[in-house]
Amino acid sequence: MRFVELPNGVPAPALGLGTWRMGERAGQRAQEVRALQHGIDLGLTLIDTAEMYGEGGAEEVVGEAIAGRRDGLFLVSKVYPHNASRKGAVSACERSLKRLGVETIDLYLLHWRGGVPLAETVEAFERLKNDGKIAAWGVSNFDAADMAELWALDSGDACATNQVLYHLGERGIEWDLVPHCRERRLPIMAYSPLGQGDVLVEPAVEDIAQKHGVAPATVALAWVLRQEGMIAIPKAANLDHVKANAAALGLALDPGDLKDLDAAFPAPSGPSPLAII
Ligand SMILES: NC(=O)c1ccc[n+]([C@@H]2O[C@H](COP(=O)([O-])OP(=O)(O)OC[C@H]3O[C@@H](n4cnc5c(N)ncnc54)[C@H](OP(=O)(O)O)[C@@H]3O)[C@@H](O)[C@H]2O)c1
Repeated sequence: MRFVELPNGVPAPALGLGTWRMGERAGQRAQEVRALQHGIDLGLTLIDTAEMYGEGGAEEVVGEAIAGRRDGLFLVSKVYPHNASRKGAVSACERSLKRLGVETIDLYLLHWRGGVPLAETVEAFERLKNDGKIAAWGVSNFDAADMAELWALDSGDACATNQVLYHLGERGIEWDLVPHCRERRLPIMAYSPLGQGDVLVEPAVEDIAQKHGVAPATVALAWVLRQEGMIAIPKAANLDHVKANAAALGLALDPGDLKDLDAAFPAPSGPSPLAII
């Protein structure tokens, strides 16, 4: 496994497991648990979840998958913006801990900006950290201006990551957010790194996959992971998909591949609003 160092000095695995859409259907639960366990067995030891996913259902799936094997895992969860108040964030975190069946969440994120003043959320996160309920906190769906506002707050520089939409077909953050975060040594966590499957059927990706004898998803993830300070969290409920995703850690794209991918998915040529799903 490759690691990315968080600002608190803690190493976070560069490739993890997403869980959106898990915990929504009882009939899928066993398969979802198996997929997460398969991922962990293949070294994908970071798991990304949120109280929003399946309204707690995904956290319960994660709890079942990691029961008795918490050591060595890096758990990420997120608080709803409407729960991110001084008291609300603490209660929400406690509910998440219970569903996950753990004593500490490694990284706790504000899912997106809402009506609660940012300073209040940061205060709650710092309290959770001091109480040992979380080891670090961060944000999600923050654009460059949101990050500047956050960094100007007391304890704002304790933010450990910004989780944003990033894949071959959605490169807008390369214009300003990535350089700003890199300057502050803040890792970026790329969500929907497979474009929810859309980039996998693009001919450029398929051709490079064929050339290397790997799956298109392996190429799409290797492209994200080749960048310093980048964490990717693909979601897969299918075991073959999990295996193909894990293989990204072993694939080095060559300059010709990168040139072809740039031609098919051009880098941004100017600023654009942060894309969100
Ligand atoms: N912070 C936020 O606001 C936010 C927003 C969106 C997502 N996220 C996080 O990021 C994670 C990943 O994003 P995502 O779930 O939106 O999309 P994604 O990971 O880009 O794509 C998931 C889809 O791709 C399929 N897939 C996975 N591996 C594959 C492979 N090797 N070959 C072919 N298809 C494959 C999955 O199918 P199967 O499941 O059938 O394998 C699923 O349909 C989420 O689960 C969540 O944890 C965060």
